[in-house]
Amino acid sequence: MTNRKDIFKVVLVVCAVVGFLVFCNPLPSWSQGPMHAKAPSDIWKPRQVPAGARFANQNSCAECHADKTTSYQHHAMAKALETVAESQILRAHPRLTFRNGPFSYQVVRQGEQSIYTVTDGVNTISEPILYSFGQGRAGQTYVLQHKGQFYESRLSFYNDTQGLDVTLGYPPTAPASLDEALGRAMSPEETKNCFSCHATAAVSGSQLQLDKMMPGVSCQACHGPGEQHVVAMKAGNFKQKYIYNPGTLSADDQSQEFCASCHRGVEDVIALPNSGGINNVRHQPYRIFNSKCYGDDRRISCTACHDPHEPLKINSAVFYDAKCNACHLPSPKVKLAKNVQVAKDRTAPFCPVGTQNCASCHMPKTDLPGAHFKFTDHRIRVVKPGAPFPTE
Ligand code: HEC
Ligand code: HEC
Ligand code: HEC
Ligand code: HEC
Ligand code: HEC
Ligand code: HEC
Ligand code: HEC
Repeated sequence: MTNRKDIFKVVLVVCAVVGFLVFCNPLPSWSQGPMHAKAPSDIWKPRQVPAGARFANQNSCAECHADKTTSYQHHAMAKALETVAESQILRAHPRLTFRNGPFSYQVVRQGEQSIYTVTDGVNTISEPILYSFGQGRAGQTYVLQHKGQFYESRLSFYNDTQGLDVTLGYPPTAPASLDEALGRAMSPEETKNCFSCHATAAVSGSQLQLDKMMPGVSCQACHGPGEQHVVAMKAGNFKQKYIYNPGTLSADDQSQEFCASCHRGVEDVIALPNSGGINNVRHQPYRIFNSKCYGDDRRISCTACHDPHEPLKINSAVFYDAKCNACHLPSPKVKLAKNVQVAKDRTAPFCPVGTQNCASCHMPKTDLPGAHFKFTDHRIRVVKPGAPFPTE
């Protein structure tokens, strides 16, 4: 198997030498080369739903996979998009207000709806919110329609302040017009992108199909359309399962292709128009790729630390330490019980400083300005006091 890190280095060198931007962009094409044991058509790509794909009712998986369905309900991904009727944050906050320069905002609950209003005192725009994006651990942004176009709300709800503030990426200064104060009109391409990362079956082929959308990243976002699977399993026909299992991917492909299709890997970040700098702290596949710990090794793939079917483990040092200790040798300061043997494949060096809570020092929580949230930097490294955030 070819190593992605080596290929990446070669590509970077070639790009630097040739200085030919067009060459840098088609990276995904080499990722579909000999690295995959399977034909690309066998590999389900989240977000790329072929037209005519037949999804099962999203509640049907619970019939036979009750354990995963029950635990997954509590994962933020399951609620990455909610309808306004169901939006927990909008229901819990029947009246939100904010002021930015001459503009006053209100988000007011009316029955099953939430109405987003902005006024400069003379003119007013008032539209019902259509969808809430983000379960809100950091924040929640709204999508609404105005003059026939989808808009991203200029204001978002933030968990740390339990109130509204300017959406990440917008300047804090007062907007120039009432339309701008409402938010930003999204191009059809951007609209499809948002829905394909935060929901399931919202895009078919190249068409947005919100009538068929299942809110949130549901089972079939990752496992592909499941209608045939349900039929086959019910008929007791187990020979062919008709459902995609990402457990068959290599560790590197799982992180850099599969989870990265939404969380963004090294190839995606290179292609982003505004990539670089502190913003990349949100793109875990990209950050971890540039860590010395990273390789095509199951012990460092996304699923090593995050079972996608269970909610994120928060402030659970013992849990994450065990993940580091799968590779790193124990410090001589740690007294191992006599019957405990260190696995032979634990060959990475031990820490001269700490023996526990490894991530707190080596995966520092990093404030992303404007996000009201400290992201966990997945670029595992020795953090030198006062050193700048490594952006590459
Ligand atoms: C009627 C029962 C039934 C329903 C409904 C059902 N499954 Fe399954 N599923 C099974 C059985 C049985 C297996 C095989 C288990 C095994 O091989 O150990 C399976 C296996 C799987 C696998 C692993 C496939 C593999 O290659 O290892 C996945 C992924 C999966 N199901 C996802 C889903 C999703 C998503 C849904 C909802 C759309 C769903 N299932 C609905 C019964 C069901
Ligand atoms: C279809 C897009 C998509 C795919 C594929 C995907 N994710 Fe996510 N993930 C999201 C979105 C969107 C969120 C943000 C959810 C929120 O907070 O609203 C998220 C959030 C998360 C979180 C943070 C949860 C929290 O409580 O803050 C973890 C951990 C995570 N994903 C792990 C994974 C792993 C592991 C994989 C691969 C097995 C994966 N994701 C694949 C879209 C995706
Ligand atoms: C390429 C996939 C992708 C696209 C496109 C995308 N998101 Fe996300 N979004 C994610 C992932 C993954 C996360 C979780 C990690 C993070 O916070 O960056 C997330 C997080 C969020 C959060 C914070 C969630 C929380 O619980 O704190 C909000 C709000 C959000 N997205 C809104 C949007 C909106 C609105 C759009 C479209 C204008 C959009 N996203 C487009 C993948 C995507
Ligand atoms: C964010 C992506 C993602 C979502 C959402 C997701 N899965 Fe999975 N699923 C995976 C991955 C990755 C694996 C392979 C796990 C591994 O090999 O470690 C997997 C494996 C499985 C398997 C195979 C058995 C096993 O434990 O390895 C079944 C069955 C399954 N998932 C069912 C479901 C059901 C049911 C849902 C919805 C409640 C669901 N999955 C939601 C990513 C996801
Ligand atoms: C070696 C362990 C490890 C690996 C591998 C890992 N993570 Fe994490 N991840 C963590 C830790 C630790 C946290 C922070 C948990 C907490 O808040 O206490 C975290 C948090 C997150 C969050 C929540 C947002 C944040 O910044 O805190 C997301 C999303 C996430 N990881 C996605 C991923 C994805 C996608 C991959 C694969 C590229 C991945 N992680 C690989 C350890 C890991
Ligand atoms: C897949 C195995 C593996 C896992 C899992 C792993 N590491 Fe590593 N780590 C390595 C290897 C290999 C190196 C490089 C050692 C060298 O250069 O001699 C390394 C290097 C490091 C370094 C030095 C980095 C530098 O820039 O000098 C730190 C710090 C580190 N790891 C911490 C951690 C922590 C903390 C975790 C858990 C959150 C972890 N590692 C998980 C294999 C791993
Ligand atoms: C209190 C903060 C702290 C904690 C906790 C901590 N480390 Fe470290 N670690 C450091 C510092 C600082 C260095 C750099 C030491 C130096 O260069 O003298 C370091 C160095 C390392 C190195 C590089 C060693 C080498 O020989 O190149 C590795 C690997 C490492 N730590 C892994 C871990 C693991 C695994 C854990 C958890 C068992 C852990 N660290 C816990 C602060 C910490």
